[in-house]
Amino acid sequence: MQAVNVTLNGEKKTVYIEGGETLLDVLRENLELTGTKYGCGQGACGACTVVVNGEAVKSCMVLFRKLEGAEILTIEGISDGVHLHPIQKAFVDADAVHCGFCTPGIIMELYALFTKNPDASEEEIKKALNKHLCRCTGYLPLIEAAKLAQKYYKESLKEV
Ligand code: FES
Ligand code: FES
Repeated sequence: MQAVNVTLNGEKKTVYIEGGETLLDVLRENLELTGTKYGCGQGACGACTVVVNGEAVKSCMVLFRKLEGAEILTIEGISDGVHLHPIQKAFVDADAVHCGFCTPGIIMELYALFTKNPDASEEEIKKALNKHLCRCTGYLPLIEAAKLAQKYYKESLKEV
């Protein structure tokens, strides 16, 4: 067994692993954080996207043992437990959550994008969305939701 120390959704944690587990394995199986989805397991679909040290990463492609000291944020960690995060709210308001399988990964992708650059261009938003497969929406609702998410996120910055 190997101990790995991380900060997960704002809490310091020591996780004991065998050694070959991916971040996605550990989130879903060791920590029961099943909001992060297993789609392809090969880095192609984006369903498993979380934020590590401020960057959107595909958690199926990251070995957990390499994350000593990392700050990890998952979909479970972005709301305050009562109110949805502005990006989550935008996806609901824009009716862009159909089966919802792709939604957490896309929201975490946009979270990383907007926290780094709240003024991201439409091209940058589309580039971020391009990393994600969605079988349900036909993508246009995702673009609209992402633009609304950016608006809500920027408004939330003014409220702080
Ligand atoms: S499950 Fe990780 S990219 Fe598809
Ligand atoms: S809403 Fe079903 S896969 Fe995107």
